[in-house]
Amino acid sequence: MCGIIGYVGEKKSRSYILEGLKKLEYRGYDSAGIVCIDEKHKQFSFQKEAGGVSLLKKLSEKVTFDGSVGMGHTRWATHGVVDKKNAHPQFNSDKSIAIVHNGIVEGYEDLREELIKAKHAFESSTDTEVIAHLFDELVQEQPTLKLAIMSLVKKLEGAFALVVMMEQYPDQLIVIRRRSPLVVGIGENEHFVASDFIAFSDKTKDVVFLPDTSFAIVTKNNIDLFDFDGKPLEVISQKVKEEYTQTDKQGFEHYMLKEIYEQKRAITRSISFCKVIGNSSSSCQSDETSEPFSRYKEEYNDCIWRQLGITPKQVKNLKSVNLIAAGTSWHAARVAQFFFESFCKIPARVYLASEFLYMPFFNQEDSVYILISQSGETADTLQALRLINAQDVPTIALTNVASSTIVREAGGFLPMQAGPEISVASTKAFSTQLSILYWLANRIALEKGLISALDMHDSEEDLFIAAEILETVIESYKLKITHELAEQYSKYSRFIFLGRNISYPFALEAALKLKEISYIFSQCYPAGELKHGPIALIDEYTPVVLFSTLDKIVYQKIVSNAQEVKARKGHLLVFAFEGQKELINIADTAFIIPKVKPLLGPLAMTGLMQFFVYHITCKLGRPIDKPRNLAKSVTVE
Ligand code: G6P
Repeated sequence: MCGIIGYVGEKKSRSYILEGLKKLEYRGYDSAGIVCIDEKHKQFSFQKEAGGVSLLKKLSEKVTFDGSVGMGHTRWATHGVVDKKNAHPQFNSDKSIAIVHNGIVEGYEDLREELIKAKHAFESSTDTEVIAHLFDELVQEQPTLKLAIMSLVKKLEGAFALVVMMEQYPDQLIVIRRRSPLVVGIGENEHFVASDFIAFSDKTKDVVFLPDTSFAIVTKNNIDLFDFDGKPLEVISQKVKEEYTQTDKQGFEHYMLKEIYEQKRAITRSISFCKVIGNSSSSCQSDETSEPFSRYKEEYNDCIWRQLGITPKQVKNLKSVNLIAAGTSWHAARVAQFFFESFCKIPARVYLASEFLYMPFFNQEDSVYILISQSGETADTLQALRLINAQDVPTIALTNVASSTIVREAGGFLPMQAGPEISVASTKAFSTQLSILYWLANRIALEKGLISALDMHDSEEDLFIAAEILETVIESYKLKITHELAEQYSKYSRFIFLGRNISYPFALEAALKLKEISYIFSQCYPAGELKHGPIALIDEYTPVVLFSTLDKIVYQKIVSNAQEVKARKGHLLVFAFEGQKELINIADTAFIIPKVKPLLGPLAMTGLMQFFVYHITCKLGRPIDKPRNLAKSVTVE
């Protein structure tokens, strides 16, 4: 996993590489490196550091090297600890070949052993260094560079995006990809290379998305593209319309806080967009033979079903929905399961992308797969998508990044309009996912004739109301949290989170939020399972955070669970809804949320939950926007 970037052209590359790396830090930020080729001596100059790109930038102020061919890397450690040696670029023995890499080479240990036997000396513990040494051997063995690359890719198992520089060929970059994305930007007498278009979005909008299992030799004026068998491929360029706006914190102490406060707007914008495409279904009526959704759309479709790459008939016949995601997006999917089952009256199954890949695939008729990913680049989710695509089943991506890989590979996609989410801990993406999935479940129900147009309209209004409450409830508790509760709860070293029915997956998300940014151990259970074991953990040193629901029957069960906690002298904090007196009275601390439509309870609680966790973490002085060991986008399986 990692961000990679390269440049070949007439200008100097260093500042572009350092700026671009900063934009790619969402893919990893534990170490960074840069290499340029000195035009005069045709030799590499490089620098790498453990620490983020800012540190590399700062330390590189003292260094003068630059060059019109160069590349850089920001790392999320997979093989080997976080240190200078394991940072990229990695080199062959005489440092005449430099490689930056995103992905994981499977079975690299065997290759490494063979190379050690052949007297290759390794400096790092990375799989990437193995590629550099192996390539060195192959370049010497094979009559041409192209044959050496073809031989290299045959020997490498796993996923990789590579950029290779060679002192022997100082005017070119070699780019190679299998599964991990790579994109080439076309400028005037220059080419940019990166894992993600945003790295050079301010330089050019003309891009070539490298096809899977392909490689290219890129010079300032030329791209020679081949498949892994060496067959030349047509270079297809396209224009990306997406703008990348690097937002600042706008006065907030952290991006996370800013993004918590952006949720109402993100939801309103997303649902307003859905309303526009969702209302013009008339033009969809006769589209059973319509072209599938184009792979990289410049404009959004005017019709919801064309946008999603399915026909109205397929929607009417839907017998099940499958939701696949990772991390916070998986929690959104688990909450959304209740939306689809409740409005569409069909089973919704939810899969963790990383697990789905290794389960038997049962091809269900009249089904659709919705893949949810804020970044659109999560390797597990992309792999799941590829597996489903091979079965020829409709796939829909729900993502926040319209230029992402998932959009290019899914049958259709529904864009989230959350705006860039910078903080690693997902906040506004989660609430926007919940909102769009609620809307989509209603829209499918409308198409199936299960709800009326008026119900649809009411659901949209309910979403706007929930978004409003999400924000106002933060304001109601702002002082209490910042002056009192954050301090009080930051003193605990472990928490138990409980939820029931729709509030259980929400409790999972709350527990994840707390552990990922504060590093406080937090465990989550369905409240009904407390009695089957976890109740042994209840004591006065382990607060129990319990999330209520608006379902009357489930609520009564939640009250019983709260009593079980209090009967054992547990400390109880509840997120309850107005009027839920039994729960509020029994709790040591109660957050009271105004009532919304029952299935929108989690959405209404989202902002306050995040705000509370954020302030606990502030008290602990953690690096909130970039927690240790994490990355915003996890591009390895
Ligand atoms: C990483 C991030 C999480 C995110 C997960 C899935 O683990 O740190 O915040 O939920 O990836 O990401 P996606 O972009 O697919 O939603």
